[in-house]
Amino acid sequence: MCGIVGYSGCRTAYPLLMQGLHRLEYRGYDSAGVALMADAEEKIKVYKATGKVADLEAVAENQDCRGTVGIAHTRWATHGAPNTPNAHPHLSESGNLTLVHNGIIENYATLREQLRAKGYHFRSETDTEVLIQLIEYTEVSRGVSLQDAVRMALSKVIGAYAIIVMDRRAPGVLVAARKSSPMVIGLGENDSEFFIASDASPIAEYTRRMVYLNDEEMAVCVPGQPLSVVTLQNAEVAVDVQHVDLDLNMLEKGGYDHFMLKEIFDQPQCLEDCMRGRVLLNHKRVILSAVTEHRQALVNARRFLFVSCGTSWHAGLIGGQLIEHFCRVPAQVMYASEFRYSNPVVGPGDVVVAISQSGETADTLAAMQIARDAGATLLGVVNAVGSSIARLSDAGAYIHVGPEIGVASTKAFTGQVTVLTMMALAIAREKGSVSDCEYEQTIEELVRIPDKIQTILNQHDEIRRVAEHYKLASNVLYLGRGANYPVAMEGALKLKEISYIHAEGYPAAEMKHGPIALIDENMPVVFIATHQHIYEKTISNMQEVVARKGRILAIVTEGDTQVRQMAEHVIEVPETIDCLVPLLSVVPLQILAYYIAVGKGLDVDQPRNLAKSVTVE
Ligand code: G6P
Repeated sequence: MCGIVGYSGCRTAYPLLMQGLHRLEYRGYDSAGVALMADAEEKIKVYKATGKVADLEAVAENQDCRGTVGIAHTRWATHGAPNTPNAHPHLSESGNLTLVHNGIIENYATLREQLRAKGYHFRSETDTEVLIQLIEYTEVSRGVSLQDAVRMALSKVIGAYAIIVMDRRAPGVLVAARKSSPMVIGLGENDSEFFIASDASPIAEYTRRMVYLNDEEMAVCVPGQPLSVVTLQNAEVAVDVQHVDLDLNMLEKGGYDHFMLKEIFDQPQCLEDCMRGRVLLNHKRVILSAVTEHRQALVNARRFLFVSCGTSWHAGLIGGQLIEHFCRVPAQVMYASEFRYSNPVVGPGDVVVAISQSGETADTLAAMQIARDAGATLLGVVNAVGSSIARLSDAGAYIHVGPEIGVASTKAFTGQVTVLTMMALAIAREKGSVSDCEYEQTIEELVRIPDKIQTILNQHDEIRRVAEHYKLASNVLYLGRGANYPVAMEGALKLKEISYIHAEGYPAAEMKHGPIALIDENMPVVFIATHQHIYEKTISNMQEVVARKGRILAIVTEGDTQVRQMAEHVIEVPETIDCLVPLLSVVPLQILAYYIAVGKGLDVDQPRNLAKSVTVE
């Protein structure tokens, strides 16, 4: 979704801002823009383009890109089409002020009518332009400073925002503020320069000292002066500088054709990182600080409620199964967007588990807030360190798989499932609801998973050849049972996201209640039929497809012979215990989707219309 970068200091801003926008490309966007300022005597220069950051660079080439202060933006259209007038930055009526904005101003239409009546003109269809006009109107009509005008204008706004405002008359000054949309400020040496962004990735190469703004806080950045942060009520806020370690290599493709492929191949290492210091093989123990520190609430929970979106929701389905299996406590799994408007029955005694790669998904955040107000305990399973969901949680476990850049989530999913497995085991141990034998056997098997994923990755050439046979399909059905049912949905989602082939994940036995009508000799069906207690049942469902001449691609356990006789193609995964099967069976489906999309010549890392971090509801 939209991305923001700002810079003020002693370097030329333009190349730094463009590099920052490239770092933010993974979030998904459809236009980009930059505003630069050389000095107070000149106009602010704004360049914009639809399409990619490279298109913006083409527009700005041979233009005046001087200046040591600037703001830049990638826009994912919400209000108004993805065209150049709607791209950010937007200028105020006088041209003195310019603004970039992430989020949505919900009352923009009313504000726009009020401003029109005062003589303001609008060149775009965006809510963002309304905000910069409102700031200018407040400054002029109230005779206040820019900082006060920003504060006052924001207090009139309903919605979500992360903004940076630049003022032609005050070279070097950048004003940033946030509500429900992330904003981080990087500090240069001795406050000589400031780097501002919607996440740490575009600025981590310049500084590790970062300040995360909280909701309804505003920062004023003036090179040479210490960072000043105030609330929208103008109360001073103590500046909390954090040291953020971000592995910059993780932000590069490292020789792979796409981030998605790299991230698929990173999974063995990522899962080892995720388990490090938590799974103690020598002692046959799982230690999660969230469980140790919140033992009472977790052990006595009357119910676990998982809220999340997209791939993280699929991880939630698996989390629910794990909690019920190991802890023998009811678990409910809901889309965060449904939960928030469902008048939910939730309260003290419930543990609400929010799962999110980005830690910024608007619906998940809103669901958490409802659960918090109702008195539930909030547990976060998050990848992005310092993100809003991590900070709203009472307790949490980071998945520690490093930044995920490919829009289609892969390593974050297996990281989430690994954390949820550790969490269920640790809580079950405290409750006494798991036998020593099963607890120890699961731990021993969990540490073998990275090596087993590696054996699947080693078959990627074979999977690429299989993918060739499916790239012309227009529909694919994914079927699985038990722990492989969420995997079927995740496999289908991966295919949909990057290959634009319609795909559905279904519980295999449910097929006969509807989807079976679709099956004929042209319909590919991906069966996830690994050895589990319901293996034979899955085989029966497969027979139903064979009887209707459906084309079967099956994911099976190594050495399986039964399925081979029924399937057109077979991909093997190593044997493991039932509850850990998803960590293996999902991997060939990720690779399959990847090669089908590559075979169709599609943009795998930035699929059309999708965003990596969905900060609007
Ligand atoms: C977007 C992404 C998905 C992701 C979902 C939830 O739709 O494209 O990959 O699963 O948001 O995001 P989260 O960051 O909360 O896991």
